[in-house]
Amino acid sequence: MTKKVFKGGTIVTSTGMYKGDILVENEKITEIGTNFKPWKDEEVIDCKGKYILPGAIDAHTHLAMPFGGTISTDDYESGTRSAAAGGTTTVFDFIMQDTGETFPDALARRDAIAREQAVVDYSFHLGVKDVSNGIIDTMEDAVKLGVPSFKVFMVYDFGVTDGVFYQVLEKSKEIGALIAVHAENNEMVNMFTKKFIAEGKTSAWYHYLSRPEFVEGEADKRAIAWAKSLNAPLYIVHLANKEGMDAVIQARDEGYPIFAETCPQYLNFTSDVYKRDDARNFVCSPPIKGKVSQDALWDGINKGDITTVATDHCPFLLSEKDWGKDNFTKIPNGCAGIENMYPYMLSQANKGKITFSKAVEVCATNVAKIFGLDHVKGAIEVGRDADIVIYDPKKNVTIENRNMHGNTDHTIWEGVKIKGYPVATYSRGNLIFKDGEFFGDKGAGKFVPCKPIKLTSPELY
Ligand code: URP
Ligand code: ZN
Ligand code: ZN
Repeated sequence: MTKKVFKGGTIVTSTGMYKGDILVENEKITEIGTNFKPWKDEEVIDCKGKYILPGAIDAHTHLAMPFGGTISTDDYESGTRSAAAGGTTTVFDFIMQDTGETFPDALARRDAIAREQAVVDYSFHLGVKDVSNGIIDTMEDAVKLGVPSFKVFMVYDFGVTDGVFYQVLEKSKEIGALIAVHAENNEMVNMFTKKFIAEGKTSAWYHYLSRPEFVEGEADKRAIAWAKSLNAPLYIVHLANKEGMDAVIQARDEGYPIFAETCPQYLNFTSDVYKRDDARNFVCSPPIKGKVSQDALWDGINKGDITTVATDHCPFLLSEKDWGKDNFTKIPNGCAGIENMYPYMLSQANKGKITFSKAVEVCATNVAKIFGLDHVKGAIEVGRDADIVIYDPKKNVTIENRNMHGNTDHTIWEGVKIKGYPVATYSRGNLIFKDGEFFGDKGAGKFVPCKPIKLTSPELY
């Protein structure tokens, strides 16, 4: 690969912004400075007036995942292509373990597909279903293979019991792993769902009412209590409610290694979407909550109590969402967002709601730190992979699904105005997206093994 120099741009880090030139050689950032003298054979990329950002790392995606009676619409190729178009250069996908399957086997099964298809780098979290008959001990083997994060669901038909959740939390401490949790109270969800269906209350609004604020908040508190009792680190995925946010803040103030992720859909929309004609397209779990919760999440981001922002990308076709036109329980849960996260968070920075550094911190730098990728990803620093995004703060875009790059036929983000936009994306120094055009290659994305995770305080060192 020829040398590349990114010249004259403003580099954004998680702590500040400064003018600098970046030299890229053999897929890595090898020098950062000012006024580099010309070499002989380098390609110079003029970045004047632009910001230079680390590619985002999406910590939460479900690509080609069997769920809700179908398979999520984006596979590893279309999902990662869509990611690249929005400035995301690494994705974490959730592998759903089959019953009886060891964790290394689950990893090998999915990596065989991802390796053929992904256009940007990727890693995995392992979804825990079954830890019986010694399978729990294979968690350690997965850590050794570079996957030290596991997710338990407190809901859905594949959710784990409280006992299994506690066991894996305990195990995680021994082996250098982090447990992520989808926290909602399953009993409550089932009770409300049954009641509404029996009463003929079947619209998508009742999806929201069947999983009200406290159903998520109570489960957050329970999960935190168990993690605290073991002094085990815990990562709450897609946090959407204030009660849970408050519990996270309290645990962190007490010094416990409790971390929370939220998603752009919870930051931009409120539960009012479930009154719209297209409400079923917004059906995801946990559902989007009210304004009080939304404000608490933004506050959590600004104060550092939300550690990461990720998409929970889990798209379905309109025809599949339509299965639940007359019965909300038939709507596959999940929305697309992989292409919209970084542009949206950066737009919020451009509008002054957060700083650009905060957007980089929660979408890239913290994700790399918490999941053990910070030796290669998550920042514009010498020695890291040249996963670089050129961002034009003056380019305004109105989101339209027809201009997006995934396989889904609609987006909940349709019509949302974005101030500033990523105009070019480089994956390990290779241009893969520029001005609306995709240049990447299927299979060029590599599995990135993560380091073991040892988190003993709420600080990410
Ligand atoms: O509705 C959602 N979030 N679907 C994806 C699966 C999950 O719960 O993360
Ligand atoms: Zn979930
Ligand atoms: Zn999810």
